[in-house]
Amino acid sequence: MRNAAEAMKQVNGRLATAARLSVAPMMDWTDRHCRYLHRLLSHRTLLYTEMVTAPAVIHGERDRLIGFDASEHPLALQLGGSDPVDLREAARIGAERGYDEINLNCGCPSDRVQSGAFGAVLMTRPELVAECCAEMIAASPVEVTVKCRIGVDEQVPEEVLPRFLETVAASGVSRFTIHARKAWLQGLSPKENRDVPPLDYDLVLRMKREFPRLHLSINGGIGTLDEAESFLASGLDGVMIGRAAYHSPADILGDADKRIWGEGAVTRAEDAVRDMLPYIERHLADGGRLHQVTRHMLGLFAGRPGARGWRRVLSEGASRPGAGPELVLEALQRVEDLQQAA
Ligand SMILES: Cc1cc2nc3c(=O)[nH]c(=O)nc-3n(C[C@H](O)[C@H](O)[C@H](O)COP(=O)(O)O)c2cc1C
Repeated sequence: MRNAAEAMKQVNGRLATAARLSVAPMMDWTDRHCRYLHRLLSHRTLLYTEMVTAPAVIHGERDRLIGFDASEHPLALQLGGSDPVDLREAARIGAERGYDEINLNCGCPSDRVQSGAFGAVLMTRPELVAECCAEMIAASPVEVTVKCRIGVDEQVPEEVLPRFLETVAASGVSRFTIHARKAWLQGLSPKENRDVPPLDYDLVLRMKREFPRLHLSINGGIGTLDEAESFLASGLDGVMIGRAAYHSPADILGDADKRIWGEGAVTRAEDAVRDMLPYIERHLADGGRLHQVTRHMLGLFAGRPGARGWRRVLSEGASRPGAGPELVLEALQRVEDLQQAA
């Protein structure tokens, strides 16, 4: 029988392979309904939860905050926090719940997050991040990873990023995702901080050359699988896609298994819709509302004939009391009729 360390290495190897493509953690967006849909589209892509703060994991309503469906693996829990003791406990709980990876958020610039002294502001405190990660690693049998920026405010990314990676890696972290732009902690909204600071992909590529042993994923502004493939070809270990995967899930994820891992078939949006129906039935039977699930499905036909009608039927009808799977089928029928006529 393999010893535990060997088994762990295998698990991490699997995760490192899954991380060739991942869907970014996105608050209010990558909830469990969204992830269920994404998993139907791609069996291989690594999925992330929304950020959950460590105190919420410890003291909050766990089923609601960190519950997930068994089909969502491989799945990472993203934590927010900067208190090593809290993070240790939250990581332990996350691993015990069955997450495959625990990720620490060092990239989120929102005010709420700054006041708790975590998120992107942690780019200024690599030693604290290393301490937090060491605690998380000690408590978690699954891999601990970090998502960061290239710097914040007046920091010089060429100096700050290598020091950050080196310091945090010394605690035992070997996989990082780098959102290739700075965050401005004052003066820009979280949304502006995802668009305004310029992207510096070259710096991330240089980091891979400087730290060849680290598993580095690049993130920020990547909109197609062509771009993702070209980053992988240029030596990066992984690509994380956020908004494009959310807004055009079939384009990004439906083709991903075949193109990124060379296996499986292309999943069509129509098939994903039909496969969502039993999930929707279960959600409604548990007292949930249709729009909680369908709001994540609006982009399924993005860029295709019928996309507008699909969105309209769902966004107008799914919040009505009693709305159910028949509305989804009606919307799908319209798409299919239009496609046949085209
Ligand atoms: C609605 C929304 C919520 C986000 N929430 C988080 C979050 O909880 N944790 C995090 O690390 N990043 C968060 N981000 C940032 C994304 O993970 C990602 O880094 C960013 O969108 C850049 O990637 P993209 O250009 O592919 O979207 C969020 C982004 C969006 C659009």
